[in-house]
Amino acid sequence: MRRIAPLRRMLSAFAGLMMTSIGLGAAGALAQDLPVVPYRIESGGISAPLGGRQGDAGRGRKLVTDRRKGLCLLCHSGPFPEERFQGDLAPSLAGIASRLTAEKIRLRIVDSTAINPASLMPPYHRIEGLVEVGAAWRGKPILTAGEIEDVVAFLGTLRD
Ligand code: HEC
Repeated sequence: MRRIAPLRRMLSAFAGLMMTSIGLGAAGALAQDLPVVPYRIESGGISAPLGGRQGDAGRGRKLVTDRRKGLCLLCHSGPFPEERFQGDLAPSLAGIASRLTAEKIRLRIVDSTAINPASLMPPYHRIEGLVEVGAAWRGKPILTAGEIEDVVAFLGTLRD
């Protein structure tokens, strides 16, 4: 028995160390960006910010007007005087925050097909149940959790 006690102490110290590093690992990942996170839809929206992170409206504006990544202006128009070509397949994003809460905006970007199964709008953060996804995009959302929050933060500034 006397020989086991130190071994036990070593083992529990080791377990403690492991727990600490797992804890730190998770916190470290949160501080950066989480590519894809689970979300819960309730009352027509997603109330919890994805990854628990507050978005940055400046970065969100860049994503919305980006022609390769966000591609929002392929279909939408909005208060972007510097953008010459804007879409007319979808409602204008101007004043969107006066019409929809952040929770509802978040769900529409994460997965607009949850509201309208026939939606033309791509599900920006859903990865299950997609068809004809190119190999390079499989298992990855179009926008990461952090990017979704940036877009939500920016759209939240668009009031009438
Ligand atoms: C391929 C076209 C397309 C793209 C790209 C697209 N959307 Fe949409 N979006 C739509 C359509 C169409 C609707 C109208 C509702 C529906 O049919 O789902 C819509 C609805 C919305 C709504 C709700 C508008 C309202 O007045 O109720 C928001 C917010 C929105 N989109 C934001 C975005 C953002 C932000 C992006 C880019 C990250 C984007 N959309 C990219 C087509 C698109």
